[in-house]
This record gives sequence, structure tokens and C-alpha cells, in this order.
Amino acid sequence: MGKKEKKNKHQQQRGSRRGGAASCFDAEDDDTYPSNPLSSTLSDEEKEASEEQEVDGDSEEEEINDLNPSSTDMPSKFLLYQQSVQSPKGDISYLQKFFLMYVGGRMPLHFQEDFCGTALLSTEWLRSDSRRTAVGLDLDLEALNWCMENNINKVGGDGYSRISLFHGNVLQPIEAKLIEFDPQKLIGDIKLGESNESLQNDGLESTMQAASASSVVNKCMKNTPLHARDIVCAFNYSCCCLHKRAELVLYFKHALDALSKKGGIFVMDLYGGTSSERKLRLQRRFANFTYVWEQAEFDIIERKTRISLHFHLQKQQKKLRHAFSYSWRLWSLPEIKDCLEEAGFQSVHFWVRQMPDTEKMRSTEGFGVGKDVKYEEVKNFPQEDAWNAYIVGVANCL
Ligand SMILES: C[S@@+](CC[C@H](N)C(=O)[O-])C[C@H]1O[C@@H](n2cnc3c(N)ncnc32)[C@H](O)[C@@H]1O
Repeated sequence: MGKKEKKNKHQQQRGSRRGGAASCFDAEDDDTYPSNPLSSTLSDEEKEASEEQEVDGDSEEEEINDLNPSSTDMPSKFLLYQQSVQSPKGDISYLQKFFLMYVGGRMPLHFQEDFCGTALLSTEWLRSDSRRTAVGLDLDLEALNWCMENNINKVGGDGYSRISLFHGNVLQPIEAKLIEFDPQKLIGDIKLGESNESLQNDGLESTMQAASASSVVNKCMKNTPLHARDIVCAFNYSCCCLHKRAELVLYFKHALDALSKKGGIFVMDLYGGTSSERKLRLQRRFANFTYVWEQAEFDIIERKTRISLHFHLQKQQKKLRHAFSYSWRLWSLPEIKDCLEEAGFQSVHFWVRQMPDTEKMRSTEGFGVGKDVKYEEVKNFPQEDAWNAYIVGVANCL
């Protein structure tokens, strides 16, 4: 295995877990491992770390908003999230497979990532083919700006012209505001940095990082020309952010509206199993930090729980607690199917994989457990301790 291959393999393993109890891995060339931060439970070392300084994600803004990924102080919470939770190559591999299976006849080129956060998936989509375009939509302006400054710049020259990021609510997408990237502002800031000798080298880099070259403009999605999308997705259990059935149906109608009349697919993910309906704390170790998934008590009346993501940084001896926190309604698979059909999708398909047992994960280091299990299309699936699913809604050619 060459150096580059080794690096890729390592990255896949590290990033294979999605925000929750799910996992993602390459559909065709799958050597990643389970989704959940299901690696191990808290160790003695972890418990002892109570002496470490704690940083609350919501209150210590200056600690967590360091946009310089190379900083040894505190890496950005978005960078930590992307490294520990997301696996965009695996998701894209499945998205392409689903499109070719259920629509076919053309290559999917135009993509929309709802609940996009830092739009890492969109970034990877653009990198995968120079003809591809992406639309991202999220309520979190800070995440969208971070994407502009830290992800899209990795796409290459025309990256900014192939992505449209919108700040707004998935329930009113046409009102969402376009985020515009202003290269002039970035160039201006770089020149300022260059003219100051004391800022040379390091200074230039930090000036570029600090500059906010993106801003929300008054242009809405309804006034922005966009390609009809081949694929719309809502990943990392984001549909659980919608708590009411009527909201879910409305959101699915918007997703359907965005799809091409030549046919397209909507894909979302969901986790479940007996372990998802109780209090649970799982952790996964990375080279420089530990990622903790904390699931609060599960309310069986409203089917709601609170998920908190924490990061423990060994080197800095700091904890970034509640870096991300979500109030989720845990929808069932048949509820999702009903809502997709009600919204107008012609067919709905479930792709499920069993996840490593959370109890067993406590007694193993987790890495490698269940790594060979792939998603399979199923009509029935027995209840397990933990499972993860892709749900595909198909809009046929009109
Ligand atoms: C679980 S995160 C998922 C982020 C990203 N999609 C991923 O795969 O990691 C949920 C995201 O949904 C966004 N969000 C929640 N409710 C929303 C809404 N009604 N409209 C748009 N974005 C929303 C949050 O700001 C957050 O970025």
C-alpha cells in the first residue's frame, strides 16, 4: 500500500462515523468501520480527565471559534466534527449507486444538501467531478461561513462558482438568503497582510483565516437560478430536528420540488434500535482527541431525546463540552415512508445495516467491529440493539 493509500485508509477509518448511531462507508470499496461513536465507553483515563479544563460549546465562544485548523490552542469545533462524524466519500458512493439504480440514464450532476452545516458533503461532491454543482441550506450562519472559508477553498479554482450556500429554514427554502463569497475582500486582506513585514508568512496565513470573505446578501433562493437537482439529501439524522409530522411532510414536498422533472432521488438517514431509546454515552478515540456522543433519557410519549457531542482534546487538556447539541424526535421508518408518499414520492426504499452492539462495544476497543457489514436493501428487518438506515424517496420522470 502506497503512502497516499495508507493515508486515505486512515482517514476513512477515522471519519467513518456520522453524528449519531449510524455509520457510513464506501459502498463499493468499504473498509471503514461502524458508525456510532461506538468505539468504547469512558476509560479510567477519561474519568480522571475531570481535572482537565472544561469548555462549554455554547458559552465559550472565543475558545471554540478558532478558525485556524493548524492552531495548537483549540481547533475549530467544525473541524473536529468533520473529522469525527462525517464520511462524505462513503455517502457519495451510496448516493450515486441509488441514483443509478432508481433513476439511471444519466450521471447525477446537481446536488442539494439540506441541513448542510459546513457542507462537507457538497464540497466532496464538487471535487468528485468538475461538472458538478451543489446547493447547501442551513440555519447556522457560522457553519456556512466556516464552509466558505475552510472547505470550498479546497475544491479548486471554480469551486465558489459551482456552489450556492443558503442561510435559512428547510421549511421555507425559497426565502433562504444566498451567502456570497467576496474574493475581493479576501485579496484586500491578503494585501494588507503582505504590506506589514511583521505579518509575513505566519501573518499572511492568519489574516486569511481571520477574514470573513462571505456575507449574506438579499438574494433569495427563489431569485437565484439553480440547476434542477438530481439528488437532494438530509444526512446525519437531520430530519429528526423536525418534530411535527406536518413539518416533515412539508419539508419532503420542498425536497421533491427541488428535484429534476427528468427524475431524481431524495436520500436521508436514520438510526434506531433498542439502544437508541435510552440514556447512552459512547466515545471514540482519535489521534489527538476523543469524540463523545451523549444521548439523554428517551421520552416515549414525544419520542424525543437530546443528543450532545463533546470533544476532549488531550494535548490541550481541554474539554469542549456541548460543542453540538440537538433536540431530536426519533422517527420510525414507516412514519418516514408514509410522509414521503404523502409528499408525492412514487416509491420509497430502505437500505439498512446492523450496527455493532453497544454493550459489546463497551468490552472491546471498537475499531474494526462490524466493519464489513454493508447496507442492504430490505423489506423487513428484525429489531437490533443498533441499526442505521438510508431511506431513498424516488421521484420518477414526469
Ligand atoms: C445533525 S446536523 C447535520 C449537519 C450535516 N448535515 C452533517 O451531515 O453532519 C443538523 C443541522 O441542521 C441544521 N438545522 C436544524 N434545523 C434546521 C432547519 N429547520 N432548517 C435548516 N437547517 C436546520 C442545524 O443548524 C445543523 O447544522
